[in-house]
Amino acid sequence: MELSRRQLGTLVGAALLAPCLPSRPAAAATAWKLMWAPEASADGLNAFETVEDDRANSHPAGQPHIFPEGDNFRFTMHTVDRDTMTDRQRQEVTGNRTPSGYLQWLSGETWRVTYSMYIPSTLKATTTFTHISQTKMPGTGSLPITVTSLRRVNGVQTIEHKIFQEDILVGSTPLEPLQNKWIDAEYQIKIGNSGSVRWILRSGGTTLVDATKSGDTFIDDRVRPKWGIYRSLGDTSGSLQDCYLLLTNMRAYKQVQATATRYEAEKATISKGVFENTHTGFSGTGYVNTDNAAGCYVQFSVSGAAGPATLTIRYANGTTANRPMDISVNGTVVASGVSFPSTGTWDTWASKSITANLVAGTNSIRVTGTTSNGCPNLDYLEVVQ
Ligand code: GCU
Ligand code: CA
Repeated sequence: MELSRRQLGTLVGAALLAPCLPSRPAAAATAWKLMWAPEASADGLNAFETVEDDRANSHPAGQPHIFPEGDNFRFTMHTVDRDTMTDRQRQEVTGNRTPSGYLQWLSGETWRVTYSMYIPSTLKATTTFTHISQTKMPGTGSLPITVTSLRRVNGVQTIEHKIFQEDILVGSTPLEPLQNKWIDAEYQIKIGNSGSVRWILRSGGTTLVDATKSGDTFIDDRVRPKWGIYRSLGDTSGSLQDCYLLLTNMRAYKQVQATATRYEAEKATISKGVFENTHTGFSGTGYVNTDNAAGCYVQFSVSGAAGPATLTIRYANGTTANRPMDISVNGTVVASGVSFPSTGTWDTWASKSITANLVAGTNSIRVTGTTSNGCPNLDYLEVVQ
């Protein structure tokens, strides 16, 4: 009998799903791949694709305006500095340069940038534009795609992020509480005419903004980030002073397809615990119920590639008390006392994720209960890499 294409496809699918170790075949997932991690002290301005340091040569005595200073990139602006259009000032860097060339952010891709920044109180919000970060299409003559700006709104200094051409405000928060200290920025862009932007600002442990908006994030060619100070001289609030901006820990990640592999706890090595299937909602054939004792553990044999991985543990904790565990990779604790709080009932499962580096080949990943309550009930470990 001849099989149709479709029947063949089903057979191939079934073969792939046949039981094998690990207990579930790899599934598609996304992960962030680190693409750019310059260090000001080592890489200097080679971190960037281009440097626009007083490109009109308006203030030679003040040059360089952009330079590495210890671990920071520093952007200095003097009130006398002028851009080629003399109604504005610009000290900016563009792009992400790596030893193998500069990164290209293309339509259809999703990128994430994280960095820490220090905005002194001399770098003020203005009534006309002050941009401290932009994305643009390379070349002259096109408008920005997204901007992070210091804007005065009804006399209040704010920091905001916008999708520029459609004038979509992604998020905004008062600036003054964030001046004269290091704050953390995170920016994600899904590039396309139907794209989106996520903008996050954190200060210490507090998240001040975490907002996502859809909009047009692509013009043509590619998208390139810029950082520095680019501001209009049209400010009417008297806010233009000599000032600077510091940036450090700049990272760029590209969203990539990764694989998620699930390892059922009941198939792993169990120390001081038993297989159980009395409670509902588990994956595989059951889960592991460890003894109520410190030191009980489940150890998974995980095949990995060298580099970071996301480790997700699915668990249930039907008590009201947290059941913390240490997580180790190849004998080294990579996360200690990770909390596994109550899930309400033993039939209710939740997931906890950490990231850790794996080695190429087999990795032993162990979760160990650290209190006399032992581990929560353990369903599986999922590894995304
Ligand atoms: C109950 C529950 C178990 C759980 C245990 C515990 O006995 O049925 O699944 O492991 O409590 O407190 O650890
Ligand atoms: Ca138990």
